[in-house]
Amino acid sequence: MNLSLEEAWKLLREGASDRHSPLHTPSVATVTGDGVPSQRVMVMRAVDQPGRLLRFNCDSRGSKVAEISRKPAVSVLGYHPQAKVQLRLSGTGRIQSSGPEADSAWEQASLYGQRCYLADPAPGSPVAAPTSGLDPAMEGVKPTPEQVAPARTHFAILQIAVDKIEWLYLAHSGHRRALFEWNGTANHWHGRWLVP
Ligand SMILES: Cc1cc2nc3c(=O)[nH]c(=O)nc-3n(C[C@H](O)[C@H](O)[C@H](O)COP(=O)(O)O)c2cc1C
Repeated sequence: MNLSLEEAWKLLREGASDRHSPLHTPSVATVTGDGVPSQRVMVMRAVDQPGRLLRFNCDSRGSKVAEISRKPAVSVLGYHPQAKVQLRLSGTGRIQSSGPEADSAWEQASLYGQRCYLADPAPGSPVAAPTSGLDPAMEGVKPTPEQVAPARTHFAILQIAVDKIEWLYLAHSGHRRALFEWNGTANHWHGRWLVP
């Protein structure tokens, strides 16, 4: 059973470090103010297995940030076709706009990545015509550090503290499914087999 948990974390770690991994872009679900689930694809930037943390980058003005601030319950879903493993995680989301972790994530982002956070008006704003939200002069050219610097105020990180991992392995001979729940008191993952 522990092998399944280890495999889950290995696939997650690879998902963060290898941009070709299918787990590099999982679906992250939040709950809207109306209680409706809302999902979006996000790039998983970092995984800290001992800390049970996943890290994503986002615009602090976006819907998901407001949703997580209101209700921090989140779910993350990915499927790795070569490993034939579906991972369904749930946990608690936390948005950080400032501090050393957000600063370091900003510094690690490329200039093109940083440019996204210059969008004006804010992401999700209704507009009369299709637009990137960027100044047209900024489109199609590599931005300079000076040009993207003002975008830092809109940049945030989403950290997810994972407390549930469901591992589903597909096999012709019979699928396998395991659920791991974090026990904070005992400080360990409690695993159970489930019928797939
Ligand atoms: C491949 C791919 C990667 C994406 N990566 C991110 C990301 O890392 N962070 C992010 O905020 N949005 C990312 N997006 C955009 C989101 O899916 C979403 O459209 C946007 O963040 C608005 O979501 P919200 O209104 O729920 O906040 C990505 C979309 C795609 C298709």
